[in-house]
Amino acid sequence: MQRLLITNAKALVGTHPTGTRILAGAAMAHLPMVEDAWLLAEDGRIAAFGPMATLPKNSEQADEVIDAKGGYVLPGWCDPHTHAVFAAPREEEFVDKIKGRTYQEIAAKGGGILNSAKKLRAMDDDVLFEQAKTRLQEMMLQGTVAVEIKSGYGLTTESELKMLRVARRLADALPLQVRTSLLAAHALPPEFADDRSAYVDLIVNELIPQVKKEGLADFVDTFCETNYFTVAEMERILVAGAAHGLRGKVHVNQFTSIGGIPAAVKHNALSVDHLEVMEDVDIDALVGARTIPTLLPSCSFFLRIPYGPARQLIDRGLPVALATDFNPGTTPSGNMNFVLSLACIQLRMLPEEAINAMTLNSAAAMGLADELGSITVGKRASLIITRPIPSLAYLPYAFGTSHIGTVIIDGRAVKA
Ligand code: NIG
Ligand code: FE
Repeated sequence: MQRLLITNAKALVGTHPTGTRILAGAAMAHLPMVEDAWLLAEDGRIAAFGPMATLPKNSEQADEVIDAKGGYVLPGWCDPHTHAVFAAPREEEFVDKIKGRTYQEIAAKGGGILNSAKKLRAMDDDVLFEQAKTRLQEMMLQGTVAVEIKSGYGLTTESELKMLRVARRLADALPLQVRTSLLAAHALPPEFADDRSAYVDLIVNELIPQVKKEGLADFVDTFCETNYFTVAEMERILVAGAAHGLRGKVHVNQFTSIGGIPAAVKHNALSVDHLEVMEDVDIDALVGARTIPTLLPSCSFFLRIPYGPARQLIDRGLPVALATDFNPGTTPSGNMNFVLSLACIQLRMLPEEAINAMTLNSAAAMGLADELGSITVGKRASLIITRPIPSLAYLPYAFGTSHIGTVIIDGRAVKA
């Protein structure tokens, strides 16, 4: 048996009771801790923990002992929305945005998603794999222990499958947990410009069954937005996904509110993501639903668009999850620590709420709440040990420098 012992934690953070799958409303501010503590992992799972006064006598028999030296021990970050497999960055569009062009104007001129698709289609899958692997390795060093990765830059059967196969290879090659979503409905490919329903037919009749057959995706996504895909098109895709056991995780309300949220809730989507532009009907639709609102504040930051209404959502008793949205167009960063700072600064989430949102709730937003997201016996020992910091609020407060000391995934240090 492989035993890892962590001693002298200033506190173990997020010691939620077994069976806590999501935190909503006022409960989001509740972040239980054990102060001055130890934690034992056995074979990659959390086996026991408690205050230092209760450290078992035989603890020195552990294969590895890490002295946290007064750092906090937290559940590793879960990032439930990324496009981390892509072919090339798009700094030229970034400069265009500085000069005043909007994301939509750039897309209308052949930039945006179609620009990324052209490059991805031409790229060899080994190169795609190596590039994405480097990105994910950097994310792990920043504390991310689970990541969702979308397709959506292929926009042909062949290239969408290529992206998902690369994502599955990444899952095999790296220790972090990977979940994947088929986002073929990301933009209308130029080949289908005159026949959009034929493209949705292709997704429904060909891609979804093929993806299911090969076990390539866990979820299905659609960019439901003005000039992208309509609510009716998203509904067709969600129905077809459900018939193949793929729940929805969808892009809605990034720029306009067109009814995507009530429709996603109706089809029992696991999460609705973005939510920068929200009307009352959108929030009303989420109340009492099993669909998790997921906010992406680093996308708002990068595009200078509104931030999602975290306070309103929490005040209505809803859960909030947080993710990076890592992609070359709207969020060229996979750093969850920056998301934490933005959540506190721009979304006005309390540090406790934001930490719960990017651990337990974000694990739930990728179907991993029984595996990750809290310091609970039986869960994966995928943990962050911070450098010595004066308080937990210091984590989001002192933004822009790294407070991540050690990162452990399944009981093994990936960053020491
Ligand atoms: O989540 N909004 C749609 N998809 C991505 C951006 C994709 C891109 O610009 O490459 C997003 O922001
Ligand atoms: Fe996205």
